[in-house]
Amino acid sequence: MSVAKPLPHDAAALHVAGTARYVDDLPVPADCLHLAFGLAEIAAGRITAIDLAPVRAAPGVVAVLEADDLKRPADCSPSAHDEPLLAGHTVQYLGQPVFLVIATSHLAARKAARLAKIDYQARDAILTIDDALDKDSRFENGPIIWEKGDAGEAVDSAPHVVEGRMEIGGQEHFYLEGQAALALPQEGGDMLVHSSTQHPTEIQHKVAHALGVPMHAVRVETRRMGGGFGGKESQGNALAIACALAAELTGRPAKMRYDRDDDMMITGKRHDFRIEYRAGFDDDGRLGGVEFVHYVRCGWAQDLSLPVADRAMLHADNAYLLPNARIESHRLKTNTQSATAFRGFGGPQGMVGIERVMDHIAHELGLDPLEVRRRNFYRPGNGSDARAARPAAEPPAPSASPVSDAIDLTSRGAPPELDQSPAPAAPSGTQTTPYGMPVEDFELHEMVAALTESADYSARRAAVRAWNAENPILKRGIALTPVKFGISFTLTHLNQAGALVHVYQDGSIHMNHGGTEMGQGLFQKVAQVAADRFGVSPERVKITATDTGKVPNTSATAASSGSDLNGMAVKAACDTIRDRMAQVLAAKHQTDASAVRFDEDEVHVGGASYSFEEVAQLAYESRVSLSATGYYRTPKLQWNRIEGAGRPFFYFAYGAAVTEVVIDTLTGENRILRTDILHDCGASLNPALDIGQIEGGYVQGAGWLTTEELVWDEAGRLRTHAPSTYKIPACSDRPEVFNVALWDGRNREDTIYRSKAVGEPPFMLGISALMALSDAVSACGEAYPALDAPATAERVLEAVMRVRT
Ligand code: MTE
Ligand code: MOS
Repeated sequence: MSVAKPLPHDAAALHVAGTARYVDDLPVPADCLHLAFGLAEIAAGRITAIDLAPVRAAPGVVAVLEADDLKRPADCSPSAHDEPLLAGHTVQYLGQPVFLVIATSHLAARKAARLAKIDYQARDAILTIDDALDKDSRFENGPIIWEKGDAGEAVDSAPHVVEGRMEIGGQEHFYLEGQAALALPQEGGDMLVHSSTQHPTEIQHKVAHALGVPMHAVRVETRRMGGGFGGKESQGNALAIACALAAELTGRPAKMRYDRDDDMMITGKRHDFRIEYRAGFDDDGRLGGVEFVHYVRCGWAQDLSLPVADRAMLHADNAYLLPNARIESHRLKTNTQSATAFRGFGGPQGMVGIERVMDHIAHELGLDPLEVRRRNFYRPGNGSDARAARPAAEPPAPSASPVSDAIDLTSRGAPPELDQSPAPAAPSGTQTTPYGMPVEDFELHEMVAALTESADYSARRAAVRAWNAENPILKRGIALTPVKFGISFTLTHLNQAGALVHVYQDGSIHMNHGGTEMGQGLFQKVAQVAADRFGVSPERVKITATDTGKVPNTSATAASSGSDLNGMAVKAACDTIRDRMAQVLAAKHQTDASAVRFDEDEVHVGGASYSFEEVAQLAYESRVSLSATGYYRTPKLQWNRIEGAGRPFFYFAYGAAVTEVVIDTLTGENRILRTDILHDCGASLNPALDIGQIEGGYVQGAGWLTTEELVWDEAGRLRTHAPSTYKIPACSDRPEVFNVALWDGRNREDTIYRSKAVGEPPFMLGISALMALSDAVSACGEAYPALDAPATAERVLEAVMRVRT
């Protein structure tokens, strides 16, 4: 069995040695050209005059293109055809590409791009959420509203009400490898494109469109990205199109990579949100109803903003059964970078909203926030009456490394030593989300019980209290937050994947599928699946670059579904070939193919044993094909996004984190002292890679909510466009104590080896850091901290001063 083994990433040695090839490392022909964009200097208005003569005259410049020079309109949008490659006369954000420099070196192109003289007629830019609301600047005609029950009435009639408003900042992807593309012209006008993209098919599609050729004339190859995080789902289109156009124009190869500053000025980031909430609850903190209004700053073009805003709405419940809910979402158009996909795809923002509500309720009632959270959890399992009525079983055994037999929910009732009250009354039938999807496998009661044990939550919370009573300057805080994240693309047709597998006559295996590798370990996981199907060691399986010529019509590697989709497609392809091989042997031994066993690089039949290569050779000589495609589509999905009803997700991934922090109340500075995580990857395909995803996801999520602050000035210029001003977590910001454990479960749905997707869900475990900071601040006074995100030192300090008055 190679599945479930904690094998290293397939390129780990290459990464460490610096020999893994990224787009910019590919050897290029000597006549390769290099590109750079000239960028707009205002956020909104018209270009009245443009003088590119100094650019054209600069050393090394071969050509300069403006929008009017393009033979066809080149559109970079993944959705609405509203993103021209070059601005033309209308400027929509500061940093928008206006012209394209084609030069003999990267530096020559960049230097020349600075020499343009452009006159603008500026108009008032729409920069903020308030600006956009004032001007009614939005995508879609009005807000999208989903309702369950009557939330307004439920809030109005509740014994207690809290309301508030929270600002949640965006986030720069900060992939280590910036955006990059290389176009190599082929004979007869064909184009080969190497792109650092999560979505090779999209690159193929957009390049074909820009060149005016069929998709078959464009082949896109992606071996790996140095990180994508959603920022390479659509934001690589412009570079690939620019390279293809330059290659078409000159007949020479063309390469483009953004320098870090350009990357940050040009490309979209996580959507920032304002969330207004009103929640009604009883004396125990149980929600009767909640209303959310999401204001989503989408930037100048639509990009993926509608599904991102949808996913925020889809996670407005997180882990909580909302009896009555109203969620209203405004998708606002502003003169800023076009916000795009980023790990969690709106889910994190939606979840922060409800976690804030839980925190606020607990503060209002003077309860432990964890107790309020547990009381509002979905009921265990599918939440039916029978299960909800089951008495609590014995608490789980304390253990440092949780946990066993999680799949058997009946063996562990909800063991709430914090919450002695009965489970909420169950309406008849299965519990549902605000969008009507049944929650059938709710396992956070068991997981949180195990985590509170292993993290020693109760004792540490008491210790934090005692410590705060004695320390006037430094204050500690602790918080546990859960994650329930829906897995599938909400655009249902994207939930499909293909694979292409060959077995060569020497028994070596060539594996290809539509997924892309961005560091998450997808290729390694899927190679382990392939090895397992053939009963061979993983070294036999060659991992190959994603290639639109091998597997067509792929979806972006996104929505965490890479291994779910491509693992299944590869399995199907491998099984086809393996069954053919088995038939060859069965015929030879006059037995049934089901009697043939593939195990440990050997094939056994009727007492005889063959090496895997012998069987490959035999099949070849018997004129049996050793090549196959595989295909998979996710079952059970059905979703109407306008009504907000149906089953958008195949299943949910679960996790929980406890974070302890300390703040300095004189400066607002803070540190994460300890983090404990229990996360559900189902039956893990590779526990080492999964733990890596959880650690990285948590740190990235905590960074989003603490130090990573994007600042635009009044002119709409992004002032934080380099690591000097934009602070991502450093190694030293990692929690001093960091315990990560996998929940030992199996996916109840029939996924690849019963695993669960892991790419995005752990990101949202970082919310526990924000809530721990809120807990620490609340030790300074009576008022609710109402901490906005990111909770930078300045914001923490402001909150400290607020609660003291
Ligand atoms: N991990 C690394 N190291 N680098 C990345 O760019 N992207 C994340 C996540 N983990 C990312 C990552 C995002 S946004 C997604 S959607 C998933 O990986 C995509 O890969 P998967 O579907 O194979 O999990
Ligand atoms: Mo991930 S944001 O779905 O690329």
